[in-house]
Amino acid sequence: PDQYRVFGNPIEHSRSPDIHHIFAEKSQQSIDYQKQLVDIEDFSNAVSGFIHQGGKGANVTVPFKEQALIIADELTERASLAGAVNTLSFREGKIFGDNTDGEGLVQDLIANNVILKQSRILLLGAGGAARGVLLPLLAQTPHSIVVANRTVSKAEILCQHFADKRLSACGFQDLEQQQFDVIINATSASLSGSLPPIPISLISQNVVCYDMVYGKDLTPFLRWAKENGAIKVIDGLGMLVGQAAVSFEVWRGIAPEVRSVIDSLRASLK
Ligand code: ATR
Repeated sequence: PDQYRVFGNPIEHSRSPDIHHIFAEKSQQSIDYQKQLVDIEDFSNAVSGFIHQGGKGANVTVPFKEQALIIADELTERASLAGAVNTLSFREGKIFGDNTDGEGLVQDLIANNVILKQSRILLLGAGGAARGVLLPLLAQTPHSIVVANRTVSKAEILCQHFADKRLSACGFQDLEQQQFDVIINATSASLSGSLPPIPISLISQNVVCYDMVYGKDLTPFLRWAKENGAIKVIDGLGMLVGQAAVSFEVWRGIAPEVRSVIDSLRASLK
């Protein structure tokens, strides 16, 4: 079988090998996908070693996505604009870098019947997670995307980087008089059990709230949104499976079915 890896630190809890093996089984592809813990200093050696062994591709997770961008010989536009690579392909003696996170998010939003065309999107956060999804979101032709961040200057720099008229930056307190169709939490606040301080006036029956983080229970942001009347709240489990599906397609040329994989992962969350 063709060999794939996911490189990260930590890596123990990665679900990527399970997800890719299910994709492979369902699409009758023969692959071997393993996780590999890599020392912080050792990323490029780990990649070279794997290429030497005949590896065909790799996923890259925290904290190596920026290093993966640097070692790639060629980048897709979405990886280059994301400033990070989560998918490497090894062929023709070269390293190709791509980023499937944003497409994974977009596909999950679409699978949940969220309309993006002409919608007003609020993106919370201006770190790597937010940057990674901006180009694929813009490609869905929204009316506008407002990037709101605790540190406003970071949101401003991010927007300047993309130079798109539909994009603007602000702080959380500037959101008071505004209305959106879709709110996407790309801050890491959920990981520490907190939520970005956005005004309650943003939440209505018509707004869809999405958190890139997932867990057995609703994240603090989604719980807060639901308690305040949001009809549709979606966590990031579908984005996790979605980015894996897009990576699988990059490598194998086949788009795997994701719904059943999301459902079985959901059932196994502890
Ligand atoms: P990631 O790669 O997950 O995006 P990051 O680049 O460190 O991680 O970015 C974290 C993002 O979450 C930032 O936008 C950060 O806001 P600041 O730029 O002001 O630091 C945001 N963030 C983290 N904890 C937060 C909290 N408790 N409330 C609001 N925003 C928070």
